[in-house]
Amino acid sequence: MNVFGRIIFCTILVFVSVASTPNFVFLLTDDQDVLLNGMIPLTRTQSLVGLEGKTFTNAYASTPICCPSRSSILTGKYAHNTGVRNNSLAGNCSSRYWQRHHEKHTLAAILKGSGYVTFYAGKYLNAYGQKQAGGTQHIPKGYDWWIGLKGNSRYYNYTLSLNGTAKFFKDDYLTDILADYGKNFLKQKPQGRPFFMMIAPPACHAPFTPAKRHESAFAGTKVIRNPSFNYTSSDKHWLVRMPPKWLPQNVSILDDIQKHRLESLLAVDEMVEEIVKGLESVGEMDNTYIIFTSDHGFHIGQFSMPWDKRQPYETDIRIPLLISGPNVLQNTSDGYPISTVDIAPTILDLAGVEIPNNVDGVSFKQRLVTNEESPYERIILVEYWGEGNLKSIDNRCPWKNDENLAECGENAWCKCQDARNNTYTCILQISGVSKYKFCSFADSESFAELYNLVVDPYELKNVVNSLTEQNVKDYYKMLNKLRKCRGRKCHAVTRQG
Ligand SMILES: *[C@@H]1O[C@H](CO)[C@@H](O)[C@H](O)[C@H]1NC(C)=O
Ligand SMILES: *[C@@H]1O[C@H](CO)[C@@H](O)[C@H](O)[C@H]1NC(C)=O
Ligand SMILES: *[C@@H]1O[C@H](CO)[C@@H](O)[C@H](O)[C@H]1NC(C)=O
Ligand SMILES: *[C@@H]1O[C@H](CO)[C@@H](O)[C@H](O)[C@H]1NC(C)=O
Ligand SMILES: *[C@@H]1O[C@H](CO)[C@@H](O)[C@H](O)[C@H]1NC(C)=O
Ligand SMILES: *[C@@H]1O[C@H](CO)[C@@H](O)[C@H](O)[C@H]1NC(C)=O
Repeated sequence: MNVFGRIIFCTILVFVSVASTPNFVFLLTDDQDVLLNGMIPLTRTQSLVGLEGKTFTNAYASTPICCPSRSSILTGKYAHNTGVRNNSLAGNCSSRYWQRHHEKHTLAAILKGSGYVTFYAGKYLNAYGQKQAGGTQHIPKGYDWWIGLKGNSRYYNYTLSLNGTAKFFKDDYLTDILADYGKNFLKQKPQGRPFFMMIAPPACHAPFTPAKRHESAFAGTKVIRNPSFNYTSSDKHWLVRMPPKWLPQNVSILDDIQKHRLESLLAVDEMVEEIVKGLESVGEMDNTYIIFTSDHGFHIGQFSMPWDKRQPYETDIRIPLLISGPNVLQNTSDGYPISTVDIAPTILDLAGVEIPNNVDGVSFKQRLVTNEESPYERIILVEYWGEGNLKSIDNRCPWKNDENLAECGENAWCKCQDARNNTYTCILQISGVSKYKFCSFADSESFAELYNLVVDPYELKNVVNSLTEQNVKDYYKMLNKLRKCRGRKCHAVTRQG
């Protein structure tokens, strides 16, 4: 081929690859449950993304706490491989260690390296912006547009890093500001290149503040009294067994939390609609995958635990997951099990970009176009490292000065919801017809819990004693393999058809 021919050939190649390379809009909410009506306020999202695509009903957070989960979502790696243990710098949340070893290899960094224009707006990692880790001048590698929230979720009175320059916002509702930045990006982004856009609104994390226009939208809403609400049983690990055994009669504080959480999600729903309109107006809708999910779930009163995440129960670990885009089967609901670590490799796979060997998650690209009735069987790993914290013990509670306990406020009836040894690993074995969860706690009792979720979806009865010695051995063997696995070694265990 002569030079002229080569130029024409290359031009055609570029044209073909541009035309077929998809864009991604990744919407990540904060603490949004799927089992306590968390998706109820998202009517537009359910129709614009859900009806246009697949809703995965067995999606799980690999670690039910913000920073470790977000780090896993961004990398496709389990927390035991990212080293991110909790929400503080000491636990490697947004730490120098994270920046040096993992931040350079996130989904966005890989996509940018492959020609994508990349955008991030919203809550990033809880410790982002702290001085010891470079402050808000630090722009994580891999983003062309960086609108990162300093610190943890807030709705008003927050600081954003705008491409490395800190700006304080007082009265602008954060979710609305993120929607505006998102729309501007769609208008201003360079033409002719695929894009990856990630938006992470604060809703529906504490302090659960709705936009002013939504303040009474869910007036009269009460906490969800599902069968595990205010239920206590001696067959749970010690933290659940700790007093007080029951919630009080007056739980108006829980009613308020439920109400405000739902209200705070209404602005997210409007944001999703705005972004979809933006995609349509720039003619990119048909070539864009939209992924909507949350970093983990939440409980409100389940097993008499007031409100938090950090527990291995379904309310805390199950998340919404809706995906639409080119060729995704429309208006389908699929029980195929998915872990948050699977999202990054799936996006890379859809982009036609090679998935690095050390990614723990497995692409489920094929499942997006597979009929929901086709059989499956998978293992999902959930891991959590318990936190202790002297500061969170209220002097009015009977357990003052115990630095091993955490999340026990007087306003929450002194029920502790975390402890230094609330460290556990669970495996879920899920197929089209069966669903088991086995959890092992690193406490002094080596406590174990087993639930048959098909007959006991609310996890009321721990059936670990029904296992034979061999069953127990097999579970531990699998757990031990998974809690240390890396890259392809994880796939061998988690992928079973
Ligand atoms: C956390 O970061 C430190 C450096 O700050 C590093 O030495 C350590 O290995 C990391 N922890 C884990 C569990 O990877
Ligand atoms: C951030 O940088 C990008 C790329 O240079 C630019 O187009 C965009 O306008 C900047 N955004 C903000 C919010 O400053
Ligand atoms: C922002 O902070 C100021 C000062 O602490 C406070 O007075 C104000 O009420 C806060 N604004 C909102 C909307 O929360
Ligand atoms: C929780 O159960 C206890 C014991 O039955 C009861 O006294 C209390 O009123 C219940 N609270 C709620 C909110 O249902
Ligand atoms: C319930 O408790 C709230 C404070 O948490 C209080 O304002 C309210 O009056 C109480 N309701 C009843 C019926 O006692
Ligand atoms: C967070 O993790 C680090 C490292 O494991 C640990 O030193 C620290 O105590 C943890 N923080 C809390 C609140 O437990």
